[in-house]
Amino acid sequence: MKHLTSINDLSRDDALSILEMAREMHDVQRRPVKKLPALRGRTVVNLFFEDSTRTRSSFEIAAKWLSADAINVSAKGSSVSKGESLRDTVRTLDSMGIDAIVMRHPGSGAAQQVRGWVDASVVNAGDGTHEHPTQALLDAYTMGIDVEGKVVSITGDLAHSRVVRSNVLLLQKLGARVVLVAPHTLLPAGVDAWPAEVTTDFDAVLPDVDVCMMLRVQRERMAGGYFPSEREYTALYGLTARRLAKLKPTAVIAHPGPMNRGLEISSAAADDHRSIVLDQVSGGVAVRMSVLYHLLAGNE
Ligand code: NCD
Repeated sequence: MKHLTSINDLSRDDALSILEMAREMHDVQRRPVKKLPALRGRTVVNLFFEDSTRTRSSFEIAAKWLSADAINVSAKGSSVSKGESLRDTVRTLDSMGIDAIVMRHPGSGAAQQVRGWVDASVVNAGDGTHEHPTQALLDAYTMGIDVEGKVVSITGDLAHSRVVRSNVLLLQKLGARVVLVAPHTLLPAGVDAWPAEVTTDFDAVLPDVDVCMMLRVQRERMAGGYFPSEREYTALYGLTARRLAKLKPTAVIAHPGPMNRGLEISSAAADDHRSIVLDQVSGGVAVRMSVLYHLLAGNE
């Protein structure tokens, strides 16, 4: 395994191997001294052309806890703002002899393109509305890895979400039953061919789900007109306090963040004892440690 730009890069066994090693990596996080020598002497560049809080810091922490050198390059403050092309930017960084590029870019397919231009390993940390494979891995990790037979609903702005694409691919590999919930206007084109059930009726699925995953309404990717008003969106698709009461006591509530409290998720749901939102963040570091290890040292 050299690159991770799509869940399709992974076999079921690869995915399970990453998730199981993440468990061991997670123990490091609970120690006072959080350092393993596994990637000493390796250099990881975080190249971010879009805003990020958790993904970028989590990759940086993951690299550092494995003793790699981690460098952050963002579009703002780099030669990208002087008009340099993506190809020239990544080839410049690659020429310095780095080992991995973790990249986030607004263009769908950007990470796949970069694979052909560099010697370094490429990790896709979100490309437009295409994929975000480490998010899906950390989601599965937080759901307990063994998700075979679990019912996972994914509700929200699916049309603009890269998280849903990676999640559907991974959850199918791992044997979960995925139910996608959104108004027609926020369903992705071609969704009928995806290995998932699709519905517009959120209330009907709530009593059956084991994992209720909520996705953000991505205002920055929409020009408006996708739903009549925020109030109506919340009334039909928000995880409100009323809907919370319809979930099984054993169900968990997930959200990749950042959350729009009061829009797709109420504070009652985000802060409920069944919410695993912060566990996703915590597991995210462990999963990214495991991914970097698999890509950079997995063959040793
Ligand atoms: C997601 C992303 O950037 O795709 N966030 C994340 O990585 N935690 C989802 C989002 O932006 O809504």
